[in-house]
Amino acid sequence: MAKRKLESIAVMTGGGDCPGLNAVIRAVTKTAINKHKLTVWGIQDGYLGFIENRIERLRYEDTSNILTVGGTILGTSNTSNPFRFPVKTGRKTQMRDVSGQCLKALSERGVEALVCIGGDGTMASAANFARLGLPVIGVPKTIDNDLAGTDVTFGFDTAVKTATEAIDRIHTTASSHHRVMIIEVMGRYAGWIALYAGAAGGADVILIPEIPYKLDKVCQYVLRRSQRGKRFSIIVISEGAKPRGGHMVVLKRIAASPDPIRLGGISNKLAEDINAQTGLDCRAVVLGHVQRGGTPTPYDRTLATMFGHAAIELLVSGVKNRLVVWKGGALSSVPLSSVAGKTKLVPRNHNLIRATRAIGVNFGV
Ligand code: F6P
Repeated sequence: MAKRKLESIAVMTGGGDCPGLNAVIRAVTKTAINKHKLTVWGIQDGYLGFIENRIERLRYEDTSNILTVGGTILGTSNTSNPFRFPVKTGRKTQMRDVSGQCLKALSERGVEALVCIGGDGTMASAANFARLGLPVIGVPKTIDNDLAGTDVTFGFDTAVKTATEAIDRIHTTASSHHRVMIIEVMGRYAGWIALYAGAAGGADVILIPEIPYKLDKVCQYVLRRSQRGKRFSIIVISEGAKPRGGHMVVLKRIAASPDPIRLGGISNKLAEDINAQTGLDCRAVVLGHVQRGGTPTPYDRTLATMFGHAAIELLVSGVKNRLVVWKGGALSSVPLSSVAGKTKLVPRNHNLIRATRAIGVNFGV
């Protein structure tokens, strides 16, 4: 029997926003409508809108003039998991699997497949929907660059550029005041942003979660610099970094989120610790969500366009339940189930660690 032609798809953005989401939405929608004459639906606000049945038609013109715009026209949420969603019954709140109502919302509209743009939390739920029979193609998004299966996620390049620009600005105030300036960047449990922005910004010390730091070593290093007449130091630290034998600094916990822990504040602790041990004047700067905003770089715009196009081509050719990836300089795809719940960390022998170490950068060891 001939395979039935795909007619209708939905697209959603899940997890934290990041530059390039709109470029993917544009590529998905325009490829689907322009090339394959599909009907496209946009799920609003990630899994929250999916659960709440907020799904609207996306027309070709809805995705015009968004290529260069940060954020997502669909909205997103990183606090909802359809397979573990808080439902109030009387005075009690219970965690329930509400995935059935999501699938119903799609079938009521005749939607046959889903393009799911997100990071590891979003992909874990996408893999669960795939198991329930919904054809899904994932597109890897996150400024953290920590998604397994792909060499790079879109959004990372823009975040590194933003963080590098911030480090460049901090350099001048650090040297004027002869201070130790500590710049905390995002990245959750992976040090990609810190490593790349630290290297590009000429940081003296780079501290990442993959290499727990020894406070003594960091203090000795900045003291030695000041004794050599270098009267300031730049330290770039990941939000997920921790001292050897110590803990990450948790900012808050969000119970309903697929990853409830929000990190933040390690730079303040480090500033106090270095000041107490060396007497040097220290300041901490937490870059925070500024790293998620702004217009995507040309690299992120083009990667996002290739990812969005590839997602539709896979669905149309009958391929399902895979994540579009960039591997070894080419586009390909891997099973969704092979990446769900996995984190891609910085290998300790990464070329950029070796190169920066060789030129004298300290990693707190
Ligand atoms: O995953 C992207 C990210 O920006 C992380 O780098 C950061 O830890 C987290 O999201 C912050 O989440 P929220 O937007 O909920 O504060």
